[in-house]
Amino acid sequence: MLPARSILKGKNGIFATLLAIQLVIKLHDKYFVPYISEAQLQQATQNIAQQIAGDFKDETPMFVVVLNGAFIFASDLIKQYPGNCEVSFVKLSSYYGLSSTGIVKTLLDVSDQVEGKSVIVVEDIVDTGNTLEELISMFSNLNIKQLKIAAMFYKSEAYDGDYNIDYVGMEIPDKFIVGYGLDYNELGRNLPEVYKIKEGEMRNLVLFGPPGAGKGTQAEFLKEKYNLIHISTGVVFRYNIKNETGLGKLARTYIDAGDLVPDEVTIDMLKDEVLKHPDANGFIFDGFPRTEAQAAALDELLDQLGETVNGCIALEVDTEVLVQRLLERGKTSGRSDDQDEDKIRNRFIEYNEKTAVLKDYYTGQGKFFAVDGVGEISEITKRLSKVIDTL
Ligand code: IMP
Ligand code: MG
Repeated sequence: MLPARSILKGKNGIFATLLAIQLVIKLHDKYFVPYISEAQLQQATQNIAQQIAGDFKDETPMFVVVLNGAFIFASDLIKQYPGNCEVSFVKLSSYYGLSSTGIVKTLLDVSDQVEGKSVIVVEDIVDTGNTLEELISMFSNLNIKQLKIAAMFYKSEAYDGDYNIDYVGMEIPDKFIVGYGLDYNELGRNLPEVYKIKEGEMRNLVLFGPPGAGKGTQAEFLKEKYNLIHISTGVVFRYNIKNETGLGKLARTYIDAGDLVPDEVTIDMLKDEVLKHPDANGFIFDGFPRTEAQAAALDELLDQLGETVNGCIALEVDTEVLVQRLLERGKTSGRSDDQDEDKIRNRFIEYNEKTAVLKDYYTGQGKFFAVDGVGEISEITKRLSKVIDTL
């Protein structure tokens, strides 16, 4: 899926081109993530149209579209059908919410239109096969020439029927999907792509601690161990700066002066990062949030995804130890903000003034955990894991 580009005006009049990414969607009480793209859907309908055309060279089939869900698939399929055809509609009902009730009722009937015809039933999705069974028995009582079934989606694991479906767009696992005509309690039919239901809760960690405390090093181990996405504010900033994005240029002016970047810039960058991974197991936020406003913004963002921060883990290291660590790192990393002792000390002042309040913020939520950040790297990883395992 291609994210839409939009132009946003920054607070201080600078225009920044951002990727406005809307990946996770909410329908009623559930969250859904992108699953099948428009291009894949088009390819599948085209394949079916060609297969049917190949089988019906010398006759005019009647497509009988099963409402409501199949209307978009049917529209694409029939538009791509190269020969003559007729079209009609039936309406059945069997579903409420996320699972089939097994009760199938006929609400709209085609009996008087299909006499002697070759009927192709157009279904959005075959799940348990109850609906299909009902359709097959309905047509078996009518005097038609032949019956074929075309289904855009087929949940082979859930299918309980005997009929071998003639034309299948895609086989999908037994997961609830929406979009391309399919609904969740009537919402989502209009989505041009298919989304699948978001499963499982994320484990979201804020790795907290002064510059040089070892957040980045530890995050590398933890992301492997817990299969999380590591979002390092530093890495995200440097990426934006290197690629001279609007936000990157803006952030540069602050970083060069040894200051923290204003909240709204940071939040916009981080938000895009989070939304790039709608299917993640969770995130490790490293270097973010740094202010109470950012922490509140992060809560809001995760809330929009139906998620929360599970824990804020602070790596505690003495300031003088840290100044030395950073100066050492500056010698090899080439990071300008690690080479000047005044700038480093300025970062600690900023940290103590603004960031330390986060301890209260997360303590207030019962989510703050302090871990001793001095010692062997593997030993510190163990200490962190002990906390994470309880979250
Ligand atoms: P079946 O009778 O269990 O095969 O279910 C068929 C009908 O259930 C379809 O026509 C859909 O209306 C609905 N359905 C099955 N699976 C899904 C899904 O994943 N999303 C939305 N609707 C579904
Ligand atoms: Mg249906």
